[in-house]
Amino acid sequence: MGIEYPIIQGGMAWVAEHHLAAAVSEAGGLGLIGGANAPGEVVREEIRKAKKLTNKPIGVNVMLLSPHADDVAKVIVEEGIKVVTTGAGNPEKYMEMWKAAGIKVIPVVASVALAKRMERYGADAVVAEGCESGGHIGEQTTMTLVPQVADAVSIPVIAAGGNW
Ligand SMILES: Cc1cc2nc3c(=O)[nH]c(=O)nc-3n(C[C@H](O)[C@H](O)[C@H](O)COP(=O)(O)O)c2cc1C
Repeated sequence: MGIEYPIIQGGMAWVAEHHLAAAVSEAGGLGLIGGANAPGEVVREEIRKAKKLTNKPIGVNVMLLSPHADDVAKVIVEEGIKVVTTGAGNPEKYMEMWKAAGIKVIPVVASVALAKRMERYGADAVVAEGCESGGHIGEQTTMTLVPQVADAVSIPVIAAGGNW
């Protein structure tokens, strides 16, 4: 992903805006803009503002329950974003478009089943996130989920959760 440290900031709805994402990327991690349930044009503006603050790679989190998810998915391609994480669902329907645009796709998963499915559909990595975490997530805890996902897939697994 072109980052210095293996740390990916959470794509937190209405918290992870351009200042935070740009600051994390400037510091050598991967900053993410949280798409939340914002319209595509709002996310486009956030991306452009972040790019004024850093030349380092930034990503976008697509919150799949958003009514604007389809628009945000396209804006990401149009704005030349190269890393996408997804939350609250299954991003299969965007996979082909994102992969064709050379985007690294990293779905957040809460189960072994979804992790395996995402690998089959071409995900570059998965974030295995335990139920202690915020958002629309499953029932397994971080300490049980992460090793099971790591055993089940061959793509990289990023551990998350346990923040509450
Ligand atoms: C306030 C808040 C809002 C969040 N919103 C989203 C979201 O919109 N989409 C998403 O995929 N994850 C969301 N998350 C989950 C985080 O992105 C992250 O995956 C989670 O906090 C676990 O990572 P951590 O262990 O680094 O805290 C949210 C978390 C918090 C605390």
